[in-house]
Amino acid sequence: METKEFKFNEEELKEVEKYISKYPDKKAAVIPVLWMAQRKFRHVPKPMMVYIAELLDQTYSHIYGVVTFYTMFSQKPRGKYHLQVCTNVSCMLREGDKIYQMISQKLDLKNNEATSDGIFSLEEAECMGACSGAPMMAINEDFHENLDITKIDQLIDSLK
Ligand code: FES
Repeated sequence: METKEFKFNEEELKEVEKYISKYPDKKAAVIPVLWMAQRKFRHVPKPMMVYIAELLDQTYSHIYGVVTFYTMFSQKPRGKYHLQVCTNVSCMLREGDKIYQMISQKLDLKNNEATSDGIFSLEEAECMGACSGAPMMAINEDFHENLDITKIDQLIDSLK
């Protein structure tokens, strides 16, 4: 089994330096640097949190606190396509909860799980501020609004 090294490469370290140079305090670079890790590894596991803590002269507990506070970070690997389905009030009133159930059944995933091939992961999300387009979901950083079951079926099949 391949052992992943949870580190940045030389080019990525230059990007880290760019973030650090933007702010008077290295602490301000924590979120963008964690986001680099999230995008690279699709999660931020403990070894990466320890590495980033050292890189930015922060305590591990501070890094852990940020990772566990913001839903944009995950300690478990997410799929290549991370589906966040909003089931909050506006979306729920327009069947967002049924859409979530449908996707959950179609991909055989529970909340915060990823498919074994690493293609999809699913998350039941709180309001993402796109209520006027309810029901909605995000696929990675793209919002898909005014969804219905047929549209979702086609959308997911097109990503396979
Ligand atoms: S309630 Fe779904 S985006 Fe606001």
